[in-house]
Amino acid sequence: MTVVATPPAPKLELPPLKLGPLTVDTPVILAPMAGITNSAFRRLCREYGGGLYVAEMVTSRALVERTPESLRIIAHDDDEKVRSVQLYGVDPVTVGQAVRMLVEEDRADHIDLNFGCPVPKVTRRGGGSALPWKTDLFTSIVRTAVKEASNGNIPLTIKMRKGIDEDHLTYLDAGRIARDSGVAAVALHGRTTAQFYSGQADWSAIARLREALPDIPVLGNGDIWSAEDAIRMVRETGVDGVVVGRGCQGRPWLFGDLMAAFEGSHERHTPDLRKVAESVYRHAELMVETFGDEGKALREIRKHMAWYFKGYVVGSELRTKLAMVTSLEVLRGTLDQLDLDSPYPGGDAEGPRGRAGSPKKVALPKDWLQDRTMDAEQAREICHAELDVSGG
Ligand SMILES: Cc1cc2nc3c(=O)[nH]c(=O)nc-3n(C[C@H](O)[C@H](O)[C@H](O)COP(=O)(O)O)c2cc1C
Repeated sequence: MTVVATPPAPKLELPPLKLGPLTVDTPVILAPMAGITNSAFRRLCREYGGGLYVAEMVTSRALVERTPESLRIIAHDDDEKVRSVQLYGVDPVTVGQAVRMLVEEDRADHIDLNFGCPVPKVTRRGGGSALPWKTDLFTSIVRTAVKEASNGNIPLTIKMRKGIDEDHLTYLDAGRIARDSGVAAVALHGRTTAQFYSGQADWSAIARLREALPDIPVLGNGDIWSAEDAIRMVRETGVDGVVVGRGCQGRPWLFGDLMAAFEGSHERHTPDLRKVAESVYRHAELMVETFGDEGKALREIRKHMAWYFKGYVVGSELRTKLAMVTSLEVLRGTLDQLDLDSPYPGGDAEGPRGRAGSPKKVALPKDWLQDRTMDAEQAREICHAELDVSGG
């Protein structure tokens, strides 16, 4: 991998991140991303840098029921020093059972709860990022989870959005409730549900949360596309660590850049096309190991192609072929057709990537916004907010 010194990044004095008994030397977290942050991708990222690498979200009910997919999601490689699992749930009892299972069976060293999912089929039932609006349910889930996790001395954190929309912000209340319930840290994605992934993350909200919770670590999330963005977020908001999602899609080496920047080094990865092709192939091989099924692994790798080759000179015919690969052999043959000596294209390979979308009216249960506590019908209906959920 070519590593060059690009514009100087002034040294930032940021201590290691403390999450309960855990110390994360580089205060960088790979954001949980359903369909992306499986053990194959985590390994690729980990090989470049330090930090904490969170698995894809798993629903607490599926985990308690021990579905094969949920057990795959929470499986970690033997050399993952901190096994980080993210749970999604809407029912305190089931979330509590899932945390207990992780603790008693020694399956995690860190557990995060997802309160950021903006998907309409989830918020329509009151789940995901709609849930913190109901402070009674939110409190009950977080308290139960913290209590169960504390039995194993496992730090429990939460990840949330700013609120439902600008008129219905929840992050300050939710942050205080979580702090008072004993969480080890809170992470804030600086968008509302209504924004989905559109517009720009509001880092000033992250700064406000940092100020409101002086006694626990606050982690900032949203629109970190480069190591320089991460440093800027820390400077502008005072957060104790950064959570990086889409910025590392197709760029696992971003974790190397982030580690360098946090250590005050100016070195950045600028891979030529050969290095990118090597990484794609290795990613595919690791996916085959993870899924134990070459066809499925190759179908899964297809969505990564546009991210890996963003900004590089790759003709449309080859791009189409790459997005349709069916086997490692076909992938190898297609990668070999690239002009592998093409250099790093600079700015074109950087910047926003992945999900964007546009603002949406938020789908919510009837009368959801009228009260900050649950009524009987909402309490009956919310269990449906845990079926068939994927991602945040
Ligand atoms: C494909 C995809 C899947 C995601 N899945 C999850 C998830 O399982 N749990 C979660 O808390 N957030 C999830 N998110 C949200 C990210 O963790 C992160 O909060 C969001 O992308 C904003 O950060 P970014 O600007 O660095 O991407 C997902 C995002 C994407 C793009």
